[in-house]
Amino acid sequence: MAKPHRCFSPHLAGVAATFLISVLHGPLAAADDEPPPWPICGPYPPSGNYTQNSTYRANIDLLSATLPRNASLSPALYATGDVGDVPDIVYGQALCRGDVANASACEACVAAAFRGARRACPLYKDVIIFYDLCQLRFSNRNFFLDDDYLVTTYTLLRSRVVGTPAFDAAVGLLLNATADHAVEDSSRRFGTGEEGFDDRRNPKIYALAQCAPEKTADVCRSCLNVIIGQLPNSFRGRTGGGMFGVWCNFRYEVYPFFPGRPLVQLPRFVERPPASAPPVTGGEEKKRNSAGKVLAILMPTIAVILAIAVVYFFCWRKRRPEEDAYLPCKAS
Ligand SMILES: *[C@@H]1O[C@H](CO)[C@@H](O)[C@H](O)[C@H]1NC(C)=O
Ligand SMILES: *[C@@H]1O[C@H](CO)[C@@H](O)[C@H](O)[C@H]1NC(C)=O
Ligand SMILES: *[C@@H]1O[C@H](CO)[C@@H](O)[C@H](O)[C@H]1NC(C)=O
Ligand SMILES: *[C@@H]1O[C@H](CO)[C@@H](O)[C@H](O)[C@H]1NC(C)=O
Ligand SMILES: *[C@@H]1O[C@H](CO)[C@@H](O)[C@H](O)[C@H]1NC(C)=O
Repeated sequence: MAKPHRCFSPHLAGVAATFLISVLHGPLAAADDEPPPWPICGPYPPSGNYTQNSTYRANIDLLSATLPRNASLSPALYATGDVGDVPDIVYGQALCRGDVANASACEACVAAAFRGARRACPLYKDVIIFYDLCQLRFSNRNFFLDDDYLVTTYTLLRSRVVGTPAFDAAVGLLLNATADHAVEDSSRRFGTGEEGFDDRRNPKIYALAQCAPEKTADVCRSCLNVIIGQLPNSFRGRTGGGMFGVWCNFRYEVYPFFPGRPLVQLPRFVERPPASAPPVTGGEEKKRNSAGKVLAILMPTIAVILAIAVVYFFCWRKRRPEEDAYLPCKAS
């Protein structure tokens, strides 16, 4: 944000609000609008680095010689394997997106992921990298035994903020339905979805969910529940985002980011009427907590909105051309 921006850019306000809100609200593994690839170099727990001409490096090369093809030839577009012996053993996992119809596209993506991992995370023993069409992990640790649904995830947060609770509710509904489809798909554990939304700028929402195909329906369900459960905390008001992990991932956008007809079609989102009072299930304690939560979210949000309003007010006043020369409005 070093470049000067024009005062009236709503994008700038969105970015500022996003930044403040994310600072105020939460632990985020990563937060940006970057296009893929999205790498995680040395995810927790740390595995350390290898050296340039080591056996470990040679084992990564051996893995990269067969894993891309093995994934592309598997009906589930998924392959795991290991190469070498302790302490230089390398475990690998490659998964292509469930709608990749073309085996050579899958193979090419995984092969590119090996090169991308080396560029993005040179010398790291443990790397996960996510592309549009595939993901790859290699590690010196037998991570197949992990069930870290949340620890090893890359979080994509679109910086645009729409700010309507209805939009967030629509996203939740669509992601749940898309996740259901993925859970029930016993061959690829993959789902895509589309939902109408009554908004001129965002007429439709698109979603994708996938689990590692070897996982059972129950494990896939729990994994997706955990990451989709982050929506209220980390994705509030955002027009796009996703969480990408070793065992499952989801993504949503207001534009179609996958080809073809979505597997799940939801009708235009209609907000449930707030008339009926919510059932009292939790005790006093629970209610107090959520009231506290609402306040904790509301207060800083109001502060942010006020701050933006003040900036807008001043920018608006300074926009008259004769004053522009003296009072440039910059963001830094
Ligand atoms: C591994 O190498 C990277 C640079 O590629 C460096 O930033 C990082 O600190 C190294 N980690 C260890 C544990 O040496
Ligand atoms: C690695 O091997 C290459 C070729 O065998 C050599 O040129 C290079 O100096 C070696 N690098 C290190 C760090 O040993
Ligand atoms: C790829 O598949 C071949 C044939 O099944 C197997 O021999 C090889 O070990 C596999 N590669 C990896 C990295 O597991
Ligand atoms: C598969 O994808 C490659 C590269 O994208 C393309 O050149 C080829 O025509 C595709 N093959 C089929 C059968 O779609
Ligand atoms: C999505 O599913 C979760 C768990 O099943 C549930 O807690 C949540 O309320 C659902 N969200 C929506 C918007 O339906």
